Amino acid sequence: MEKLSRRGFLKISSGVAASAAAMGAATAQAAATADAGRTTLPYKPKALTKARGLKPNSPLSFTFPDEQSPCTLVKMGREVPGGVGPEGDIVAYSTLCTHMGCPVNYDQRTLTFRCGCHYSVFDAEMGGQMVCGQATENLPQITLKYNEKNDTVTAVSVNGLIYGRQSNLI
Ligand code: FES
Repeated sequence: MEKLSRRGFLKISSGVAASAAAMGAATAQAAATADAGRTTLPYKPKALTKARGLKPNSPLSFTFPDEQSPCTLVKMGREVPGGVGPEGDIVAYSTLCTHMGCPVNYDQRTLTFRCGCHYSVFDAEMGGQMVCGQATENLPQITLKYNEKNDTVTAVSVNGLIYGRQSNLI
């Protein structure tokens, strides 16, 4: 068996360490690139409505983040999770059912979104939580921001994956 000299051992060790460092750097760079893709592609904010003119329990339709993504905004009439505005009660959701993409409709009587295809129900007061039906995911909630100075409610992002998409970003 050939004996390894001290110098030879050090040479090999430093080569292995350099390779490991290079691999680590490459992995870190790949992760940073992936993260950058996730975090630096912003949604284009969309001003939706003035908050003070909204009537409680009256749905308002809009699209976000693009024209192919129908959504509904509702002033719930009491503070709710994710709610914005002077009363913290304005929320919005994608209206594509998370089961198979059928349109869901807001039901003013039960304060839920209901799907007519297979009867899934989502709670508008609880962040779009799935209540029952075929769907297994909550309704994606549109993240809203409220500007007190001009009383404007703006859609800024989506919490949850809109049906049929691999990514919500445009
Ligand atoms: S598409 Fe809505 S429950 Fe099936």
